Amino acid sequence: MTTKRKILVTSALPYANGSIHLGHLVEYIQTDIWARFQQLQGHSCYYVCADDAHGTPIMLRARQDGIEPEQLIAAMQKEHEADFADFLVDFDNYYSTHSEENRELASEIYLKLREDGHIATRTISQSYDPEAEMFLPDRFIKGTCPKCGAEDQYGDNCEVCGATYAPTELINPVSAISGATPIEKDSEQYFFKLSDFADMLQQWMRAGHVQPEIANKLDEWFEEGLQDWDISRNAPYWGFEIPGAPGKFFYVWMDAPIGYMASFKNLCDREGISFDDYWHSEANTELYHFIGKDIARFHTLFWPAVLHGAGFRKPTAVYCHGFLTVNGQKMSKSRGTFIKARTYLDNLKPEYLRYYYAAKLSSGVDDIDLNLEDFMQRVNSDLVGKVVNIASRCAGFINKRFDNRLSAELPDAALYNELVNAGESIAAEYENREYGKAVREIMALADKANVYIDNNKPWVLIKQEGKEAEVQAICTQGINLFRVLMTYLKPILPQTALKSEAFLNNELQWHTLSEPLVAHSINKFKPLMIRIDKEQIEAMVEQSTEHLEQNEEPAPASGPLADDPIASQIQFDEFAKTDLRVAKIIKAEHVDGADKLLQLTLDIGGETRMVFAGIKSAYEPEMLEGRLTVMVANLAPRKMKFGVSEGMVLAAGPGGRDLFILSPDDGAQPGMRIK
Ligand code: 2FM
Ligand code: ZN
Repeated sequence: MTTKRKILVTSALPYANGSIHLGHLVEYIQTDIWARFQQLQGHSCYYVCADDAHGTPIMLRARQDGIEPEQLIAAMQKEHEADFADFLVDFDNYYSTHSEENRELASEIYLKLREDGHIATRTISQSYDPEAEMFLPDRFIKGTCPKCGAEDQYGDNCEVCGATYAPTELINPVSAISGATPIEKDSEQYFFKLSDFADMLQQWMRAGHVQPEIANKLDEWFEEGLQDWDISRNAPYWGFEIPGAPGKFFYVWMDAPIGYMASFKNLCDREGISFDDYWHSEANTELYHFIGKDIARFHTLFWPAVLHGAGFRKPTAVYCHGFLTVNGQKMSKSRGTFIKARTYLDNLKPEYLRYYYAAKLSSGVDDIDLNLEDFMQRVNSDLVGKVVNIASRCAGFINKRFDNRLSAELPDAALYNELVNAGESIAAEYENREYGKAVREIMALADKANVYIDNNKPWVLIKQEGKEAEVQAICTQGINLFRVLMTYLKPILPQTALKSEAFLNNELQWHTLSEPLVAHSINKFKPLMIRIDKEQIEAMVEQSTEHLEQNEEPAPASGPLADDPIASQIQFDEFAKTDLRVAKIIKAEHVDGADKLLQLTLDIGGETRMVFAGIKSAYEPEMLEGRLTVMVANLAPRKMKFGVSEGMVLAAGPGGRDLFILSPDDGAQPGMRIK
């Protein structure tokens, strides 16, 4: 056996202000398979992660929810951990960047960099919101694209024409927080002098620590020249204050990767592992970061330079993967393909997705597509139809006819050895993250196992006299082939592997496969996996669909803000502009073709308004007629798919059946002003 490697792997830390979705899971599943594979090879492999808990979006989201950031990040961490656990992503530690370990490591690293002259201070001018009294990240400035004129675009790029620009180039910029026009304001900032590490980075990158595609990208960045990196942000900011710099905080991307170390430190302290073995020297340990290609710059330029500058080891490799598309397109809320981890889990088993992603993954940075039809067919035909089927075709005979006993010899040792010998190339494919190739090779072996059973027909032989021993041997062969295949699939299908171990009465281990299971008692076979039903997928898509009846644009499909756009705050005088009136519902009708809307005719004291309201889930039209409600009477008429809506009815409640629009009949008169 080769020497035992000491490996530490990480996946990117998800932001603590959004739910995990199927796009995120590509990476966690990819990394988890790799870590499990290493362990199965007998190596030591720790897998750590954490929530990325700092930054302006998290601060504002907590503010918007009326809670402290600590409460928000605690709740999100709990949700994330449950999602990962249920997808069988087996972290050795899951932590938070908002931890004491991280605060200490971030300041240690910063102070070392400062001491060695790698930190510069400069006064720079940045966009500032004079009403919210804070500096604005690019994503919080909106305006008209300077290139194509599209309105309501973010301060860093245009989603319509794809142009990138500085927020100062936007036409009519406004703060997404207050709606105020940003001004330019000077402040002193702290910079990490990346160019101090140019030679080191060039060498590091050429020594095979990154994929070829990323090396090309790095060449471009080197050509553009390495700029100093602004690692500070002004208060108010949710993060760690910079030592010796009151009112200045570490930019979230400064302490986020340090969160890898902090999570591991927390594990080391708990389990007595040597932190220094993994972070101070490259001699005996390996460090790998799995990330998406969008954050390559942070991990292949800034991160190795920061580590090196602060006297730590650099990553053995940074492995980038591509993005996820669903049915060939960007994930979309209106198509129901922006699927949250929990929505998937409410309908389908985690191993289906683990298998499908594995079948699609390679070592490259290409995007991968989850085609839902193909997903169902592939899982059903490969896993249920081929692999699990081998065991179910043979188990019954052994359980019932031979008192659970496998025969003393394999009838086709050559076939068995063929499967065992394939282990070497399958292992190399896992090691190189060529999971798609590994899966294809395993399935080709599963085909051979099925052909063996088809040719030997134990179900025919069992009816013939004196053939019992032959049937027992054929089924022993089948079960042994199944054991090899399940061992190869164990990193991808840990749950089915566990059930198989119970059935086989044997732990699935890569290095013991050369010895077949013979003259051995197995246990009663229980179904290992069931087929995906089309209806499960349809239900998942339906539950993920946002029905856009109100003439709205689809929400952007990805990115940290897409899921939870921060609503702009409004000042009291803006709120005071709303004219809220008591309205009597004189008619309520269904709208042809609309799932959620009712059409209401409202009397607001002599004036009649026609309004569409998304309250069909809670009210039958006849319940509404003659009752009172509250409406915004001065909302500009809006053209919707089904007609013009002349105002808006106010409702409260979580949605579905619980939407409340009616005021008690306590003598209010239509047209009365509410405030
Ligand atoms: O892009 C993201 O989602 C970041 N939260 C990833 C951070 S990875 C690491 F550097 F912390
Ligand atoms: Zn544009």
